[in-house]
Amino acid sequence: MEFAEQLIHWYHQNKRDLPWRHTKDPYKIWLSEIILQQTRVQQGLPYYEKFVENFPTVQDFATADIDKILHLWQGLGYYSRARNMHIAANEVLNNWGGKFPDNYTNLLSLKGVGKYTAAAIASFAFGEKVATVDGNVYRVLSRIFDIHDDIASGKGQKVFSEVANDLISEKEPDTFNQAIMEFGAIQCSPKKPDCETCPFVQECLARKTDQIGVLPVKLKK
Ligand code: ADE
Repeated sequence: MEFAEQLIHWYHQNKRDLPWRHTKDPYKIWLSEIILQQTRVQQGLPYYEKFVENFPTVQDFATADIDKILHLWQGLGYYSRARNMHIAANEVLNNWGGKFPDNYTNLLSLKGVGKYTAAAIASFAFGEKVATVDGNVYRVLSRIFDIHDDIASGKGQKVFSEVANDLISEKEPDTFNQAIMEFGAIQCSPKKPDCETCPFVQECLARKTDQIGVLPVKLKK
């Protein structure tokens, strides 16, 4: 079995049931991804529910009072993210006729939407074949393929993005992206990866050479 197939198989047996995995609404996916950039899933969940309830559509979010948004954001920190979201929602309204752009490149034009978030929305909402590369993905790929490039460097980020985009499933890019992040979160975790039950234990190059503890490499800037 190829890597993507094995990973997706693992995902179906191990995934957590999370609300944003049941929607293809780009607005809700965008909300969840911005919240999860700074918060663990368990802490982010109630915020996601609260925002969807208060602002069911991007129109509701865009036209909301920024003070109400900032109030609901309390506890998440990084208030600039909430402010950028308000700006982005208005961009969707004014520049895109109220509908989120439907591809990676155009999503990148929105305020506060970087490569990771654009890839997440493009793949989860629109099925575009573009890899999401977050901290989980760095960890999983660096370990299985023994990649020592610095994840804080531009070159390192390019290397990981290329590897992820080579591995991504043709048929199910969205499931592949959820799966690799979930795998990093619950199987190949930072401190105590569960190698005993890992489906890649035979192939994992970092395990062979006892490098798991030093990967991914992140040098101080
Ligand atoms: N962290 C970031 N994005 C996520 C997602 N879609 N599911 C679970 N955890 C995440």
